[in-house]
Amino acid sequence: MTKQWWENKFLENRDGKLFVGGRKAEAIVEEFGSPLFVYSRSQILSNLEALRKAFAGTQAPDLRICYAMKANANREILEFLKGKNIWIDAVSPGEVDLAVRTGFPARKIIFTGTSISAQDIKSVFGHEGPIVNIDALEQLESMIEIKKKEFPDKILRVSVRWNPGIGRGFSPKTVTAGRVSSDGTPIKFGIEEKHVLSAFEKSAQAGFQPIGLHQHLGSGWTEDDLGDVLEAVNRMIDKAVQVQKAGFPIEFLDFGGGFGPKYFEDQKPFPIHEYSRFIGNKLARSGLDIESIAIEPGKYLVGNAGILLMRVEYVKRSYGHLFACVNAGTFNAVPRPAIYVQAHHHIVNSSEVESDSPQPVTIAGNLCETGDVFGKNIIIPVPKKGDVLALLCAGAYCRSMASKFNLREIPAEILV
Ligand SMILES: Cc1ncc(COP(=O)(O)O)c(C=O)c1O
Repeated sequence: MTKQWWENKFLENRDGKLFVGGRKAEAIVEEFGSPLFVYSRSQILSNLEALRKAFAGTQAPDLRICYAMKANANREILEFLKGKNIWIDAVSPGEVDLAVRTGFPARKIIFTGTSISAQDIKSVFGHEGPIVNIDALEQLESMIEIKKKEFPDKILRVSVRWNPGIGRGFSPKTVTAGRVSSDGTPIKFGIEEKHVLSAFEKSAQAGFQPIGLHQHLGSGWTEDDLGDVLEAVNRMIDKAVQVQKAGFPIEFLDFGGGFGPKYFEDQKPFPIHEYSRFIGNKLARSGLDIESIAIEPGKYLVGNAGILLMRVEYVKRSYGHLFACVNAGTFNAVPRPAIYVQAHHHIVNSSEVESDSPQPVTIAGNLCETGDVFGKNIIIPVPKKGDVLALLCAGAYCRSMASKFNLREIPAEILV
């Protein structure tokens, strides 16, 4: 029996069978049905501790971990994180409402919207104390109007999301800073460098409390992204020094999310220790006086703490291709490979993890679309009718991006 690269606190290869949270994957499907998302408390906790540890030994001040709940807004996951001294990164009033309903104090929510409406602003500021990121000077204009009309005497904390001119992401669609993405798409997020001070000035004049500077460069970094990411850290801290010198008492710097789990065997993970050490050292040298730094992990916290279990309905051959036809669809459950060509999810045959004669198999979903495949010609022990396949790293941006395309149900979820 070979140790598999994906084994963790949650997933284990025991004598050729996949065990999930200590139980045979096949038994879980027997009890709860399929397709089924299974998430793991112990793996989420282990990811959280790894992050805390990475920053603990550095010169960075107090660390705020703000969970990017867009990655997975499962209620039980939120409940679990609530007890772990976690903040929330929310991007819509719906996310803010759910976080508050789950019991997160609104003052521990940072709201980072884009194209946000007057109604959105009213709704978010209606809660007690969230921090609202200013994404555009034009957004600030509506915030000022709403403050005057609805909340003239309320203390409203804001921060400024700037675009440092560099972005990195695993796909052009997930690069969120810089002038344009790698495919030429103009980047819509954040305030241009030359307008940052003005955002602080105007918001302070209007009676807001501007207390933070924020950036989010993109999603899905690997080791190759380190150089540019560190350069963006440099720019952010230099900019914060300028803002503080101009008389604005910044309390925190928020470096956003972006670092992810390992989706495939050869992927070189982003070196978080180097990143955290660099932030700590640069801050210590900068003379900046801040209370805390924030990071906004989504993928890193929950990605490898979730899988999708699916059953093989039948195995079909057509024009020389072998298909394992499963009872789930990409758009309904794991739309990432359908949306991003670069996305990859490793698939394990839970019923036979290893074999001496694996073969190329296409894992085909149950939707009427050729692109509805979870893996093309992947080399895997050949599945049989009734086998349970596990799609790994399905904890982030899977269920939360799912749809009811073809009027197929979105899979159920359990937390173990
Ligand atoms: C503002 C912001 N913060 C954090 C994240 C989380 O990114 P990741 O899941 O890659 O850590 C995102 C993702 O889109 C985001 O837009």
